[in-house]
Amino acid sequence: MSVDPQDKALIDAAVAARTHAVAPYSGYRVGAAVRTVSGQVFQGCNVEISSYSHTCCAERVAVFKAVSEGHREMEAVAVVTDDETPAAPCGACRQVLHDFGPGMVVLLANLEGRARKVMLRELLPDAFAPQQVLDHIRGAWSQSESG
Ligand code: THU
Repeated sequence: MSVDPQDKALIDAAVAARTHAVAPYSGYRVGAAVRTVSGQVFQGCNVEISSYSHTCCAERVAVFKAVSEGHREMEAVAVVTDDETPAAPCGACRQVLHDFGPGMVVLLANLEGRARKVMLRELLPDAFAPQQVLDHIRGAWSQSESG
């Protein structure tokens, strides 16, 4: 695939983030980088915790860093692993990415420069979305006010 310079920069940021991965249990190191609609890049790596279920994936670390600094709209994410076939985000990360960028571009890459570009909508069709809960809450409130 011919990679556009902005996408290449995002993949490079994910490669750099991967060097910080904390993966003593799985040995599987992941780097991620998200680009916000304002063009800022936030990096993340997987962080494994001794009580395994508290582990956080690289993609979620990157999204939460962006959100915690005031950026809620993402347009692209790059995910880098050392696999021959670049890995796609796990299901939990797909949902988190979708909440902050349903139209997001997803760049899957490995360390050898192999890359694939997909749309998040292709990875998570018919997604659950924040509006679903917000509509429900509004409905519940108006019912409690009328009752
Ligand atoms: N991991 C990620 O960082 N992102 C994914 O989308 C899938 C899995 C991490 C979690 C764990 O540290 C390791 O990869 C093995 O599952």
